[in-house]
Amino acid sequence: MKIGIIGGTGGMGKGFSLRWCVNHDILIGSRDAVRANEAAQEYSALAIKEYSSVKGKITGKDNLSVAKESDVLVLSIPYENIDSICSQLLPNAKESCVVISPIVPLTKTDAGFEFISFKEKKPSAFELVQKYVKNKSKLVSAFHTISEKKLIDPKLVLDSDIFVCGDDENAVNIVNSLIREIRNLRPILLGPGSLSYLAEAATPILLNAMIKNKMKNPGIKII
Ligand SMILES: NC(=O)c1ccc[n+]([C@@H]2O[C@H](COP(=O)([O-])OP(=O)(O)OC[C@H]3O[C@@H](n4cnc5c(N)ncnc54)[C@H](OP(=O)(O)O)[C@@H]3O)[C@@H](O)[C@H]2O)c1
Repeated sequence: MKIGIIGGTGGMGKGFSLRWCVNHDILIGSRDAVRANEAAQEYSALAIKEYSSVKGKITGKDNLSVAKESDVLVLSIPYENIDSICSQLLPNAKESCVVISPIVPLTKTDAGFEFISFKEKKPSAFELVQKYVKNKSKLVSAFHTISEKKLIDPKLVLDSDIFVCGDDENAVNIVNSLIREIRNLRPILLGPGSLSYLAEAATPILLNAMIKNKMKNPGIKII
């Protein structure tokens, strides 16, 4: 399976690449193909050092090429850039492509971290992205509450739950199996994409709890 990561040069992109390259080919996407290639080389070197065996190859390309070639596409970009990036890329993705949104509509104010969708009455990331997905049922939202700092360290066992929202059982199952490939991550289905705002809102809750209570990159686990 080819997993493409739009904005793969960022922290989350690095984490996804290092976790999934063990079993899959990874395409790092960037607005700048040179930057994508440099990131791919860096992640490949880290993966070789970390794992005894890596089945997948990590390569870097411009975002559009990545969108065209991927079987699974992760949108690892800021909320503010959904319209500009997704309108250009998603109409060019394969009809069968499963699109993953970990995007959180987040802003920092004097009070702390706040959820843009509530504060500014804007759509959830899922709703915004879905406008541009060819096969709308293939969009799945997940990974909002996992910290980049933990994801990028393959030695760390991430003993956490990941909320998943989506409208197509097959697409959700593909994402669930990618979550399970990351040791000790457990997918927790919340419901259809229309409930994604609930999963997205969990991130500012976690970040405020982290700062006010001096916690280190907390996650969520349902017990
Ligand atoms: N960081 C976390 O711990 C965390 C946790 C859970 C969820 N998330 C969510 O995951 C997503 C990615 O997080 P991140 O921290 O990796 O994000 P990021 O580092 O801020 O950005 C990721 C990539 O997006 C591209 N990008 C940045 N500004 C852009 C713009 N104006 N237009 C188009 N592309 C732009 C950049 O790639 P190029 O410059 O190479 O194109 C950048 O490397 C976000 O939506 C975030 O809310 C993050």
